Parts: sequence; C-alpha cells; structure tokens
Amino acid sequence: MMSLPLYVQGAWFLGAALFIFGLKGMSSPASARKGIVIAGYGMLIAIAGTFLVPGLKNIVLMILALGLGGAAAWISGQKVKMTDMPQMVAIYNGMGGGAAAAIAAIEFARGDVHSTVTTVLAVIGALIGAISFTGSCVAWAKLQGVLKKAHRLPAQNAVNVILALTAVGLGIAMVVMAPAKPELIYFFFAISLILGVIVTLPIGGADMPVVISLFNAFTGLAVGFEGYVLGNPALIIAGIVVGAAGTLLTQLMAKAMNRPISNILFTPMVAASSGEAISGTMKELSALDAAAMMRYASKVIIVPGYGMAVAHAQHKVWEMTEMLEEVGVEVKFAIHPVAGRMPGHMNVLLAEAGVPYDKIFDLEEINGEFGQADVALIIGANDVVNPSARTDKSSPIYGMPILNADMAQNVIVIKRGKGTGYSGVENALFFTDNCRMLYGDAQPMAGEIIQNLKSMG
Ligand code: TAP
Repeated sequence: MMSLPLYVQGAWFLGAALFIFGLKGMSSPASARKGIVIAGYGMLIAIAGTFLVPGLKNIVLMILALGLGGAAAWISGQKVKMTDMPQMVAIYNGMGGGAAAAIAAIEFARGDVHSTVTTVLAVIGALIGAISFTGSCVAWAKLQGVLKKAHRLPAQNAVNVILALTAVGLGIAMVVMAPAKPELIYFFFAISLILGVIVTLPIGGADMPVVISLFNAFTGLAVGFEGYVLGNPALIIAGIVVGAAGTLLTQLMAKAMNRPISNILFTPMVAASSGEAISGTMKELSALDAAAMMRYASKVIIVPGYGMAVAHAQHKVWEMTEMLEEVGVEVKFAIHPVAGRMPGHMNVLLAEAGVPYDKIFDLEEINGEFGQADVALIIGANDVVNPSARTDKSSPIYGMPILNADMAQNVIVIKRGKGTGYSGVENALFFTDNCRMLYGDAQPMAGEIIQNLKSMG
C-alpha cells in the first residue's frame, strides 16, 4: 500500500466525515433532505481526492465512467415515480456491490493483494459484493415486473447451501494458494454471482424490500472490506456506515412484519388457502356521510397506506385534515412501520404535503388511542390494519403488529374495490359492524369529502 499525500488523505477523511453527518441528518424527516445533500458533497470531495492520487492512470476512462454513471443516475433520479423507488434503490445498491466485487477482481488479477489479512478481506468483500450485485439485479427485475413469478427450485435450500459452501471453499483456496490461479478466481466469482441469483429468485415481492435492505448491508460491508484492501479510509467509513445502517433497517423491517430474516430468505410467503372464516358483510357509505361523521367527531385518526401513495392523495388528505381541525376536530396520523412499499414511505409523502411532524405517530405511540377515536379513516391501507394478524395462525401476516383501527368507534375505509392487500389475504376488519367502505380512488374521494365539508360550513 503506497503512502498517499496528506491532501488526498485529508479529502477522503473530510468526505467520510460528511457521510456520517449526512446519515445523522437522514435520521429525521425534517433534516433528511439536508442530510442527503451533505452526503452528496462528501461523495464529491472523496471523488475529487481520488483524482489527486499521484501517478493515476486511466484518467480518461475514469471521467467517462463518471460521466456515464452520473448522467444515468441524474436522468433516472429525475424521472422515477415515488412508487418505483424500491427498485431504484435495489439497482443502485446492486451497482455498489458489483463495484466492490470488481475492485477485488482487479486486485486479484493484478496480484496486488499481498498479506493474508488483506487477501481474506478481499475474498469476503468479493463474495458478498457479488451476491449483492446479482441478488439486487433480480430484486430490481421482480419489483419492475420484468420477472413476474417467484422461481423456486425443487431442493432450493439444499442448492443454496451447496452453492454457499462451494463459494466459501473456493474463497479459502484463494487465500491458501495466494496468489490464486486465474481459473480459481473465475470459478469463485462465477459461483458467487450465481449464488446471488439463486438465493433471490424464490423470494416473493412482499419480502423484497427487506431483502433489498439486507443486500444494502452486504454492499456496505463489501465496500468497507475493499476499502481496507485499497487503503482508502473514505471507502472503509462509508462501507461501515452503510453496512450498519442497512443491518439495523433490515432488522426493523423484519420485526415490523414479524418475519425472521431466515424465514424471509428460505421460506416463501404464501397466502393461506383457507384461513379463519370471516363473517358479516361489507357496508358502503357515501362521501357525504363520511364527511358528516368526521365533521361532528371529536377525534379522528387517519391511517394511510400504499393506496394513498398510488393515488397521490396526500395533498387532498392534508387539506381535509386542516378543514377538520378548523372546526375543532383533533386529527392524528397513524403510521405503520411497513405501510406502503418502502421504509418511511408514508412519512415522506405526508411531509411532502406539509403535514407537521407532531401530527404523525408511530404504531407504538398511537395504538392505545384508537379506543378513544370517534373515527379511524383508512386511506388505501389494508394489511397493516388487518385484525386477523392477531388471531389467525394460518394467515401469512400472523404475528405482524397491526394498527388497532378496529378499536375505533367507527371505521371508514377508502379503497377502489374489493382488492386484497399486498399479502393477498382478505381483511376481516372490512366486514365488521363498525366499518363502512367508501369505494373509489383515494384522491377524488378525499376531494369529495372536502366538497361536502365545505357545504357543511
Ligand atoms: P396494502 O396491504 O398493500 O393495501 C393497499 C390497499 O390500497 C389495497 O387493498 C388496494 O385496494 C388499495 N388501493 C390501491 N390503489 C388505490 C387507490 N388508487 N386508491 C385507493 N385505494 C387504493 O398496503 P398497506 O396497508 O400499506 O400495507 C403494506 C404491505 O406491503 C404490507 O403487507 C407490508 O408487509 C408490505 N411490505 C411493505 C414494506 C415496506 S418497507 N413498506 C416492505 C415489504 C413489504 P383496492 O385494490 O381495492 O383499491
């Protein structure tokens, strides 16, 4: 490892420090935008520092790669819809893992990995980077609808274990026989890349955001290890930060869905064929009745879900909230940790519409309050308010903590029809005596409620 001039090390150190400040900013919706910008400056400084490394070759290629990657990211970042964000995160994350694996491949090919410790770290980084690369590409293809079905091999878990053991065995051989022969290096990378595909193919769409988060943690670790191999502190710190954040996020999401990580990776999520019998009927109400129920309520709790995101109804929902508050109704928003399709999905949308943070409550904070609410208004949410998660052991969402909307005096549900939630199971709440359905797209329905509230004065 050659010793680098102080200004290069200083630039990398500054870049790494900005990554940490940026991540700190991202911990709250109020400062998240600033956090992203700070981390972006960190990346800019780290890249600038890299160009100052003495004796650099291939500068034209580096500029070309930066130009191509930067342009692709800029264009896709401008165009991406909020609902397509998970697959965008998946593909960017995959690129990070692929880059880490590519660094290791080049270092091995050049015979630049010398000590045993460096070789071990390069091999581990290459293995998890390669898995994260192909796994994230499969995750992208599934969420984008390119791959429509979950493909499960007959002895899936046995194949996973054999491939994983082969990759680890080849990795150990690369350390023991260092410098490894090219055939061994090719074989190791081929098996690692295939492993990423095979492990991810059977995983269903509902579990995919958790898997993306897991691969994100993998990418972070891979980048950190390769940073050590290259002697680049910015990569080490950025990798560790991403690895730790990804691991925590994966744990939080798995807990919120009551699905252990091992279960997500090795057991497919299937909708129950029978399940608990649901009694009662779905009862409709009009936008006028919905407006009147809320206008004369003292407390309303709004539960937004994926349907609100699809309908872009958040602005209308906030306008409706303001009208209710003007006539003295107390309105709160209840956010389930996995409402929508990505972590913080609802918080981002509500923040965009201007809903103050002190009106937005997490599951643990608000669940005790549904009993005192006159109305729980559910907008495009389904699984996160399904009471069978508490009682129906055959349900794929059994054990998932849910929002206690069913405990409110009255429940109003805005959704387009009788469609199920993401898990594919029927929702017992919609058939209960205190629940009424307001059928329609969430945005025009919120608009109709607003019109009726206006006419009530
Ligand atoms: P879902 O259970 O997916 O239900 C959304 C509901 O919105 C559907 O029943 C649908 O019914 C309705 N809808 C769709 N488009 C609409 C529109 N334009 N206007 C009005 N309603 C509309 O959503 P949820 O309650 O937010 O739960 C999220 C699910 O995703 C959970 O199962 C969760 O485990 C899973 N998941 C989430 C994450 C993260 S991190 N958020 C990660 C992995 C998995 P209609 O078709 O009848 O309209």
